[in-house]
Amino acid sequence: ADVPLQVLSVVDSTNTYLKEHPELHINGGACLAEAQTAGRGRQGRKWQSPFGASLYLSMYWAFSGGYQAVGGLSLVIGVAVVEALQKNGVEGLELKWPNDIYLEGRKLGGILVEIEGQINDQSHCIIGVGINTCLPEATGKLIDQPYADLSSHLAMEVDRNSIAVNVLDSLQLNLMRFEQDGLKPYLNQWDKLNLYRNRLVRMICGQNQFEGKCLGVNQDGALLVELDTGVKAFYGGEISVRSA
Ligand code: BTN
Repeated sequence: ADVPLQVLSVVDSTNTYLKEHPELHINGGACLAEAQTAGRGRQGRKWQSPFGASLYLSMYWAFSGGYQAVGGLSLVIGVAVVEALQKNGVEGLELKWPNDIYLEGRKLGGILVEIEGQINDQSHCIIGVGINTCLPEATGKLIDQPYADLSSHLAMEVDRNSIAVNVLDSLQLNLMRFEQDGLKPYLNQWDKLNLYRNRLVRMICGQNQFEGKCLGVNQDGALLVELDTGVKAFYGGEISVRSA
């Protein structure tokens, strides 16, 4: 399809850039950068974005049907990115709810979905994807959790362009499919990719903590955890594995 793609050298954040460039606001319109000076992660965190070390990509999509329609969106994006990487020969990928991308137990990439409010019953989404391709050690030291990158994992050299193309294609395809068919066709696949499937986890939601067995996701994309008091559906919060 004929959609605009902007390739940039350095930006503050591809999400911010996309937000501020209405000429790219066509479903599938996207921008890519070599480096970000103010890369953003979820929960207000910083996303380390040195030159050429990762894929920094954002895609625009307007969904009809308001906020409920985008409930499962993050999960679909996670699955779409995993499928794209699998096409590039990457094995051992998993998803940490809602959509952190893990490779052999360590974080490989993340997704930041920002909803720009509703116009004419449409939710305007900026979908940001960051995937570590070849992170320098100096950057790794600034990351506060175990991380992975593709170049240390794959025997062959990482072709960032081909990964970018596959991610863009897969996002387009799956977002169209999600609009038509909803989350249902993805539930099975998501559960298979679930990093914490059947594990004991801790959910942190603001001041509250809950512990239980991670069961999977429901039709709205909420995470199901079996607590002592019964099964609870989490629509937000941070999941981690429960330490003994
Ligand atoms: C996370 O796991 O916290 C989400 C990280 C998302 C990072 C990507 S990189 C491209 C896009 N631009 C940003 O500023 N953030 C996202």
